[in-house]
Amino acid sequence: MELVRVHNVSLWRNSVTILKNINLTIHQGQQWAVLGPNGSGKSFLMNIIATLVFPSCGDVVIAGKKLGQVNVWDVRTHIGIVSEYLQYSYPAHTNAVDVVASGFYSSLGVYQELSPHMIQKALHILDTLELVHYAHTPFGKLSYGQQKRVLIGRALVYDPDILILDEPCNGLDIRAREEFLEKLSHLVAMNKHIIYVTHHVDEIMPWINRVMLLKEGQCVYAGQRTVLQDEALLSKVMGYPLGMFHHNGRVYWYVK
Ligand SMILES: Nc1ncnc2c1ncn2[C@@H]1O[C@H](COP(=O)(O)OP(=O)(O)O)[C@@H](O)[C@H]1O
Ligand SMILES: [Mg+2]
Repeated sequence: MELVRVHNVSLWRNSVTILKNINLTIHQGQQWAVLGPNGSGKSFLMNIIATLVFPSCGDVVIAGKKLGQVNVWDVRTHIGIVSEYLQYSYPAHTNAVDVVASGFYSSLGVYQELSPHMIQKALHILDTLELVHYAHTPFGKLSYGQQKRVLIGRALVYDPDILILDEPCNGLDIRAREEFLEKLSHLVAMNKHIIYVTHHVDEIMPWINRVMLLKEGQCVYAGQRTVLQDEALLSKVMGYPLGMFHHNGRVYWYVK
């Protein structure tokens, strides 16, 4: 089954081409990483898939629903997104449980009444993310990694099939990063399809089975993760001569 289809999508802003002719189809059972240097268009592409940005041309179909032909709010229940923007804009005084429940309104902070069902669901999600002890802790008092995980909880309120994580490990130290990455595998076990966006190859966990490479708004590759062994292609995409080695199912790079 097709979860996402991006067909010939381009995006322009102020006569600058940000994305050019992007094609991406995500099928059931696929876990994707999107790898590319800063400014390659990763976040714009994710915001298009999350229905937050409308492409200049091309089609986006989410769970069989074509954007532009359906109510975006119906489409958004299929997709959750966690971005850095969300993290730094979120009001610091909001308790973790309310942060999660705010996902029902897609708001930053709580401005509408939360029903008992919403609170109950938010607590359940915090429990599955092993964060229930922090339910009444203000967002601003959580560690950086805990904040990311609470925002994942917020993205999960409608039980979406697809979860977009846009550079989720930026700003985490190595221990927090490894703990965070380890916990993501629970989401895969919960049948979530993750689109993991990064500019660090070593964050691509072994359960990721598909990779898209983006460079200057163009898709250089979209397919099997074995591409991560292609030193020449990854060097070209990142714009720097890189060598690779493998350890425990992950790939690490170094400057040649
Ligand atoms: N309003 C804008 N007009 C023109 N270009 C923009 C605008 N906003 C962002 N960009 C450019 O779009 C490109 C892609 O940005 P982005 O998707 O955030 O890249 P990434 O997430 O891969 O770092 C960047 O080169 C950025 O400079
Ligand atoms: Mg980005």
